[in-house]
Amino acid sequence: MNGKFLRVLDGEKFDVPPLWMMRQAGRYLPEYRETRAKAGGFVDLCLNPDLACEVTLQPIRRFGFDAAIIFSDILIVPYALGARLWFEEGEGPRLAPVTDAASFQKLAEQLDQKITARVYEALSKTKEALPKETGLIGFCGAPWTVATYLVAGRGTEDQAPARLLAMQEPELFQKIIDRLVDASAEHLIGQIKAGADAVQVFDTWSGVLDPASFERWCVKPVAKIVGKVRAVIPDARIIVFPKGAPLNGIEAVAKQSSANAIGIDWIASRKEYVVKFGDTFATQGNLDPLALIAGGKALDQAVDNVLEDFKATRHIFNLGHGIRKETPIENVERMIARVRKG
Ligand code: CP3
Repeated sequence: MNGKFLRVLDGEKFDVPPLWMMRQAGRYLPEYRETRAKAGGFVDLCLNPDLACEVTLQPIRRFGFDAAIIFSDILIVPYALGARLWFEEGEGPRLAPVTDAASFQKLAEQLDQKITARVYEALSKTKEALPKETGLIGFCGAPWTVATYLVAGRGTEDQAPARLLAMQEPELFQKIIDRLVDASAEHLIGQIKAGADAVQVFDTWSGVLDPASFERWCVKPVAKIVGKVRAVIPDARIIVFPKGAPLNGIEAVAKQSSANAIGIDWIASRKEYVVKFGDTFATQGNLDPLALIAGGKALDQAVDNVLEDFKATRHIFNLGHGIRKETPIENVERMIARVRKG
């Protein structure tokens, strides 16, 4: 019998929703920081199957979440396409940027299987070690979000380099997106075959595009990925997280991709959302990660509001974005107790 997380994705609804957190394995946990120090670099940790499995399990042992998300990163896909990748301590990711035809030429057409095999091995090990009722999630970044890092060579405030390239050289930009569509679909299929029960597509920067660009660079590529995965694995469970997208954008993503669930951030109006979509798909979200830092009554109220607004829907409780490293662990415990009390 599957646990609650998978049962919600498959169509059931519970008074006490299943619960997990984006970035649940991360720097707010002392045991993560310890393993991270042992691993050396961040990429080394992602590509070490034993240690990636270990940090994936850490938040499950500590909190008993209903799902585990494999420890990896969305930038492993461009890395496996040959883009150099490293993390500047205290700053974030750096990539050899793809800005013109010549740098695009250097990207491989296929994922390097020596690299992706490490992710799949971490998934198989994790699957074996997890309690039966705990779902295992694989993931990738959506092509648009990954392209914002690949084009700029780093994280940017407003994703301007990718937005500019998409305007100035739409044909080249389309080629970058298409390459990422193929690679991402292959990577999701590999992860499901290795033991992932569901996969999530993170479109963290989908909120910065005008409607026509959103349709072209977010909706269509994500729908293509889902189509390619389901062509090989027809019953693949897929969650799409179009962060920052307006309601009509979410509607386009949901309709064209037929994802099993949509993840939403804390900005979305839950009431309008529920009126518009009801139970057409499951909903994952959307506690403001800052409420988890605030703690106390503010946290209790924020948790209650999420539960109340989504009580009539197929809900998976989560944050509206990843947990931040300064989050006190006792607040995570307080949130979990509040959700599970029903
Ligand atoms: O959710 C999980 O626990 C699974 C692991 C996971 C990580 N990154 C680990 C990570 C997942 C699902 C991601 C997704 C990811 N990575 C996204 C999409 C979701 C989001 O948060 O917006 C993006 C945009 C990235 C790219 C990335 N990775 C950035 C911009 C950074 C630096 C910012 C930061 O928080 O440090 C990372 C690093 C990263 N990825 C860390 C973790 C735990 C922290 C690095 C460290 O341990 O030193």
